Amino acid sequence: MEHSEWTPASWRQLPAGQQPDWPDPHHLEQVQKQVASLPPLVFAGEARALRQRLGEVAEGRAFLLQAGDCAESFTEFSADRIRDKLRVILQMAVVLTYAGGVPVVKVGRIAGQFGKPRSSPTETVDGVTLPSFRGHNVNDQHFSSQARTPDPDRLVQGYHQSAATLNLVRAFTKGGFADLSRVHAWNQEFVGSSLEGRRYEELAHGIERALRFMRAIGIETESESHLHTVDFWTSHEALLLGYEEALTRRDSLTDEWYACSAHQLWVGERTRNLHGAHLEFLRGVQNPLGSKVGPTATPDEVLGLCERLNPEREPGRLTLIARMGASKVVEVLRPLLAAVRDAGHPVVWACDPMHGNTYTAPSGHKTRHFDQVLAEVAGFFDACRAEEVWPGGLHVELTGDPVTECLGGSDPVADADLQVRYETICDPRLNARQSLDLAFLASELIGGRPY
Ligand code: PEP
Ligand code: CO
Repeated sequence: MEHSEWTPASWRQLPAGQQPDWPDPHHLEQVQKQVASLPPLVFAGEARALRQRLGEVAEGRAFLLQAGDCAESFTEFSADRIRDKLRVILQMAVVLTYAGGVPVVKVGRIAGQFGKPRSSPTETVDGVTLPSFRGHNVNDQHFSSQARTPDPDRLVQGYHQSAATLNLVRAFTKGGFADLSRVHAWNQEFVGSSLEGRRYEELAHGIERALRFMRAIGIETESESHLHTVDFWTSHEALLLGYEEALTRRDSLTDEWYACSAHQLWVGERTRNLHGAHLEFLRGVQNPLGSKVGPTATPDEVLGLCERLNPEREPGRLTLIARMGASKVVEVLRPLLAAVRDAGHPVVWACDPMHGNTYTAPSGHKTRHFDQVLAEVAGFFDACRAEEVWPGGLHVELTGDPVTECLGGSDPVADADLQVRYETICDPRLNARQSLDLAFLASELIGGRPY
């Protein structure tokens, strides 16, 4: 397979892990045909622009912030939720840019993050066994036979929700909401009174002073688009390959293939098998790509990912997203960083401090402790520094809502609070305050002065 010709469907010759057991393959085929006839969600030129920006990250000149839901929801879907999520990501980016002193490439886990891999294909509750929840593109999280039966029509709904989300994100980022003169307003709408809020307020004052200074010395701030709009890209795990194939289109400018469901696609920890269908699909599309890398990955496996997904060794093509767990990140990451560095592969190394730190609280809620999230980020920076590799980015699960899903933080969420606002349909997310706190810590680790 290694050397045979790639087509958008060549993955079908190989074993594909984590695919739902669709009850009616004919129905699935009809839906995939329908999706193939719908317009692309993103354009090849945009994916190329992101690849270029990520090239700057690979070269140590910028930082990647990739963030959003573990799984987007068909039901918890509203303009306010999208706005609040975007706002917390923009606030984190402002902190990292201003306090960390680096340009930040902003990528959402948004507008398409609807397919989930699961550790077990089934779930048993009180003696009843049903298919696991696999994301709203497949089934529903409620525990009934009807809800858990995979339904291909959901793929069409996922496509339309992605389009509507992307439309609003484009409007917010280009239409005034992301204007730097609003850094203050974002905070007032948020929690100006909290510790993170006050820290952020101070930083917003600094930005205002800098803008006033620029105007005073004659810089035309009105016409400088960087001050008024933001580039924001979309990403999701490329899990449901039939859906991805249906949205894979040939770019009329370059004649190359692009996955047009999002700007960046990543392969998950459970499907990054070097000889599997997911890598076969991804190697042929020209989008920037990501691969999760967990604690069992060997240097040879990681070099295999680099060779397979980025044989031309182009900076920006491949982001390796380490999700090791706080207790072992330094020990397991260092040999991988060294191997990739010594082989001369120009990757972005990003830290996902969420997926290696998940556990079940006594109340039964799946959670993560904020201290462990911070500890993994700090360990990631230590490992990168020790190997002289640029710590290129953060990949986190968050929401703009004041949820109580992850424990700890500066206004701590305690065990007993988990039940108060536990709203995720999959993994526990940082709330807005925990997210902002994380951005301040990361900005200090990048080398900015503490705020
Ligand atoms: C995820 O990012 O939600 C996820 C499932 O991650 P991983 O593949 O690293 O377990
Ligand atoms: Co997750």
